[in-house]
Amino acid sequence: MFINSGQRTLRNMNDYPMCPIVLLQYKSPAIAGIQHHNSKAARLMLLPYLILISFSAAAQQQTIAVETKDNALVLQTDKDNRLGIIYFGKKLLNSGEYTGIAQQFRRDDDNKGIDNNAYTPAGTWNLLEPAIQVTHADGNHSLELKYVTSSVTKTDDNTKLTSVSLKDPVYPFEVTLFFKTWYDENVIEQWSEIKHTEKHSVVMQKYASANLYFTNTKYFLTQFHGGWATEMRPEESELTAGIKTLDSKLGARADLFQPPTFALSFNHLATEDEGAVMLGTLAWSGNYKIDFEKDVYDHLRLIAGINPYASAYTLRPNQTFTTPGFIYTYSENGKGAASRNLHNWARKYRLQDGEGKRLTLLNNWEATYFAFDENKIVSLFKGAKNLGVDLFLLDDGWFANKYPRNDDRAGLGDWQENKKKLPSGIGYLVKEASKAGVKFGIWVEPEMVNPKSELYERHIDWVLREPARPEHYYRNQLVLDLSNPDVQNFVFGVLDTLFTKNPELAFIKWDCNAVIFNAHSMYLEKNKMPQSQLYVDYVKGLYKVLQRLRAKYPAVPMMLCSGGGGRVDYGALQYFTEFWPSDNTDALERVFIQWDYSYFYPAIATCNHVTDWSRYPLKYRTDVAMMGKLGFDIVVDQLGENDLRFAQQAVTNYKTFSDIVWHGNLYRLVSPYKNDFASLIYVDDAKSKAIVFNYLSNFRYDLNASVEPVKLKGLDAKKQYLVKEINLYPGTQSAIQANQIFSGDYLMTVGFNAGVDLRHTSVILEVDEVK
Ligand code: DGJ
Repeated sequence: MFINSGQRTLRNMNDYPMCPIVLLQYKSPAIAGIQHHNSKAARLMLLPYLILISFSAAAQQQTIAVETKDNALVLQTDKDNRLGIIYFGKKLLNSGEYTGIAQQFRRDDDNKGIDNNAYTPAGTWNLLEPAIQVTHADGNHSLELKYVTSSVTKTDDNTKLTSVSLKDPVYPFEVTLFFKTWYDENVIEQWSEIKHTEKHSVVMQKYASANLYFTNTKYFLTQFHGGWATEMRPEESELTAGIKTLDSKLGARADLFQPPTFALSFNHLATEDEGAVMLGTLAWSGNYKIDFEKDVYDHLRLIAGINPYASAYTLRPNQTFTTPGFIYTYSENGKGAASRNLHNWARKYRLQDGEGKRLTLLNNWEATYFAFDENKIVSLFKGAKNLGVDLFLLDDGWFANKYPRNDDRAGLGDWQENKKKLPSGIGYLVKEASKAGVKFGIWVEPEMVNPKSELYERHIDWVLREPARPEHYYRNQLVLDLSNPDVQNFVFGVLDTLFTKNPELAFIKWDCNAVIFNAHSMYLEKNKMPQSQLYVDYVKGLYKVLQRLRAKYPAVPMMLCSGGGGRVDYGALQYFTEFWPSDNTDALERVFIQWDYSYFYPAIATCNHVTDWSRYPLKYRTDVAMMGKLGFDIVVDQLGENDLRFAQQAVTNYKTFSDIVWHGNLYRLVSPYKNDFASLIYVDDAKSKAIVFNYLSNFRYDLNASVEPVKLKGLDAKKQYLVKEINLYPGTQSAIQANQIFSGDYLMTVGFNAGVDLRHTSVILEVDEVK
């Protein structure tokens, strides 16, 4: 909650629409906004006069610059005291010059509407896509929002919160826009708070998080789409006049077809190192809508927030609705710099333990699926130890008795150990794992239920379904009603019981495999609350559970999984240490999938497992999994002698450089989309050590992918570096000459040829400073 004293004062004056003008002038020293008259003494001297004239004078123009190290978003009031966006881009050396930017633009706003509004209300002057649309308590549909006040609070040297309060002059209805900035990382998170004191509830039809405006002329959108096992497929297009929408209506697992992440290039398509580009993402794990509307001036309006589809939300008097955050960064040096901004920010400020370490693991999902018992699992512990990983992760299939979880058609919801498979219980497995020298983690999917389960039999009222219609399933299951506090308690209880009984549990994989069909809540119905709140209250309920869990178990690593990447967003990720990008673990597919996630999420959060999904050599599969958080999902006992030796060495090698992958700076060097191989480098902050991953991405006959050297990035031109190949398969020789020393200048200007070809399908280079 961020309420400044200015807002409180003004609320008392709300009956006098012009009064804010007076107060603003008086209060402005505490405000970061830039004003035309900015001498405090002058303002104080003028105060009595201003009070006298305030009821007839025009509002004083306010300019509010929201700045980070390199960028600025500038808001300004117009002659009618409406707040608009007058600038977005590289920040000016002299912030005083922002005030004059608007005069450089000739938009015929009187006739065409106000396109650059900072939070466009519906029902009055606006003719374009609104950011907010409401039905007042008296049934009226009109909304106007005028500037009231703004303030800035400093959280620490790097973090500031600018809040701007807007109010309807006719109805007691107010919106506060929040802009949280992380200075060094050039990241802004924007959201709004909506509140009213009308006599009865107001229904909000639309309530966006952010409304931005860009005054370029050409815009190129990079969006991502896919489905199960085909996540994060990029598509690029130039935006044309009208509205382009990215959205989701899936309820739970909302990101499955289209995640709420995008890159927006200005004027021309940005490359890794060139061009103006914004990376944006909505921190919300439910239905979302992001509209890009190119207006008559060829300027672009961006409105991002919860999807208004079937989601009218009733707001009681004095209740505050806080929208999710829209997170973005901007760079004039291409997508590489922009994504490093997001990585730095996410590690430092968003992910759980983003600056910490991660556990390497052996998962049993692809190794056993549902077919295991406790002896089998205990035998796999030895494999984990033999491999050298930190943890064993027991996946789906360990629970339910009346309807045993022997496949995905039964048992979900009944979170008691299956007595046949695990007669000695989870506690025994935790102890046995510990004896074998590895930690133990477990899979849960607590938001879901199979109709064939005791939970469904006992609590059909907890299940999202249309009582009068046939049920419709996604992976044979239904979604529990997280808008219901009892269900929230149940979901929390599933985890709490596991931890209480097994305090040594060291890892949770939280899965979510279904979308919401027949979106109907018996809880909302019983409590006479509108069904249209369900999509929003589901996500709020989920976050409540996760908050409770994190309050009680702050340190346990948790993987965010949703049948692959069906729920990867910074709303959920604030509770998780890492995420599962896709069930598709085919190593070649993963080169592309991991490449695209890397624009938005740091490698420390990306779980990559070596599996038998594809037949590429073990070295290739392992090298690909190393560009993130390494795990395995194989039967270690079935590895041949050399494969086992390689895998063991790979885990040891990974531990020597994982710190750079997790915390270093990523430069994508060669794109697999345009070349026959992919190349990426992670460099530590001191520029003294780097790891270069090279993966062949075209396996056609007689291919020589590496004709030219690859120019490395992020090194120190003046330093000397030893380049060597690491993670070689036993008995093979590196094609690279040993012990070569180059200057950073050479490596970044001429480059280095890693020799990726059909015989060397993946090459990992270690680059070490020589002092
Ligand atoms: C989907 C996940 O993505 C898989 O890794 C696995 O945990 C299965 N669910 C288990 O049902």
